[in-house]
Amino acid sequence: MINENQENLWYKDAIFYEVPVRSFYDSNGDGIGDFPGIMQKLEYIKSLGVDCIWLMPFYDSPLRDDGYDIRDYYSILPEYGTIRDFDNFITEAHRLGLRVIADLVLNHVSDQNKWFQEARTDRTNRKRDWFVWSDTPDKYEGVRIIFIDTERSNWTLDPQTGQYYWHRFFSHQPDLNYDNPEVREEMKNVIRFWLNRGLDGFRCDAVPYLFEREGTSCENLPETHEYFREIRRMIDAEFPNKILLAEANQWPDDAKKYFGNEDEFQMNFNFPLMPRIFISLVKEDSFPIENIISKTIPVPDKCSWGLFLRNHDELTLEMVTDEERDIMYQEYAKVPKMRLNLGIRRRLAPLVDNDRYVLEFLHALIMSLPGSPIMYYGDEINMGDNIYLGDRNGVRTPMQWSYDRNAGFSRVDPEQLFAPVIINSNYHYEVNNVESMSRLPTSFLNWLRKLIITRKKSAAIFGRGTIEFIHADQKEILAFLRYYEGETILCVYNLARKPSYVTMDLRKYSGWHVREMLSLSRFPDIGDLPYFFTLQRNSFFWMSLEKPDPQ
Ligand code: NOJ
Ligand code: CA
Repeated sequence: MINENQENLWYKDAIFYEVPVRSFYDSNGDGIGDFPGIMQKLEYIKSLGVDCIWLMPFYDSPLRDDGYDIRDYYSILPEYGTIRDFDNFITEAHRLGLRVIADLVLNHVSDQNKWFQEARTDRTNRKRDWFVWSDTPDKYEGVRIIFIDTERSNWTLDPQTGQYYWHRFFSHQPDLNYDNPEVREEMKNVIRFWLNRGLDGFRCDAVPYLFEREGTSCENLPETHEYFREIRRMIDAEFPNKILLAEANQWPDDAKKYFGNEDEFQMNFNFPLMPRIFISLVKEDSFPIENIISKTIPVPDKCSWGLFLRNHDELTLEMVTDEERDIMYQEYAKVPKMRLNLGIRRRLAPLVDNDRYVLEFLHALIMSLPGSPIMYYGDEINMGDNIYLGDRNGVRTPMQWSYDRNAGFSRVDPEQLFAPVIINSNYHYEVNNVESMSRLPTSFLNWLRKLIITRKKSAAIFGRGTIEFIHADQKEILAFLRYYEGETILCVYNLARKPSYVTMDLRKYSGWHVREMLSLSRFPDIGDLPYFFTLQRNSFFWMSLEKPDPQ
């Protein structure tokens, strides 16, 4: 039974679904997705079994970083609709039992934002100190550059005032100065504004970079943690039960710190895990996954990792060793165009050559490890990508609804779409679309729905339970037990591209029944002899272990 206190921990059992408004559905025929469009597709999102939508930035923006460059924090980009459309969307989502979180970009703004426009008018302007200025580009030397393919420095000269401004991302995204109390207050007001309109929380962008200090990496500074604790206190006091999800792409020890003492973020993307899932697959070896999970648990009781395979960015390889990065590039980015910065700008299905076994395997994995799965729109229909579009746009193309014109995304002339639909023959929208795949009982989409229904029946175990690895002789076998309040699930995965087998000592469950969870088929009861499984290549079993009724 889930009691009221546990209900407040809804995010621990939830499945999230990331959506760019631009790419989802165009309701008014201008070739660009919009809020009334997503609103029409809420039933579909609900039909996936998803619990919470994560909206990418929809605020007014010149769109030089797809909305992560915000011009006005208090308004909506007109092409996405009006504030009323936003309100209607939230109301309708809530009516259907869906929650909605949205991106909150704290670290930087667009250079077209009026705060920066004012700040750069002259050195004495009252907004000057809202940004980080220096007479020379030497300050904070050695701080890494994140967008290495486009930026040479974290400083850019402002010709009008003759000083350099600091930016961790594109040079058109000046960083805000969090040492300035007005900035800290203003961003709290932004938070209040959108929570008052019904959002259920935020995915906080670029969390580690808020403060700068000489002689440090300018990442994960204590001041940054302190500010998030301040935000959390404010939200808990004024808007109970809203959540914060951190984008902190860091090594495990630094990433984990964003949970704080249950007083910073409730959720945090498991960046350390994501690339190591792919590395485990290449190496046919469970060690990278097992090792990184061991390094990222336990988390505080009320916190949860966000488990993801792909998102709207390149598959980041910043926080892996050089050797691991080489393995990833060799296997998954054979063509230079597939790379961007330190990462791979491809969608999930093309990454794994559209291999149905591997796609099922990967989804089962993120649905069964400790945390809350976060899916990326289109991955449920194995959408392809377009590496000939610039930056990360190749993984943000129109959602494929049907085999009609423009994949059913919009009724405009195809030339007018904000980005072309995917027509590569192996991923053509005429096949990979919601309507066709919904109709086909054996489609990946329907399989995934079933997986999600199965997970939901045991959401508490998967989301809240402990994990205990079982060591198999075969390196390609990943096996673990998940427990929660007396219930036990055994998960077994074969990472190899060939069939394999495993024997396990399960004597402590002697006499227990074993049931495969997707089909509900009974397997032989556990006895005193080692329990034996054979597994097809890249396949898995979720088995519920059921204690026999007392005679
Ligand atoms: C992280 C976002 O995920 C990414 O898309 C964006 O470009 C950077 N932050 C900079 O805003
Ligand atoms: Ca539109």
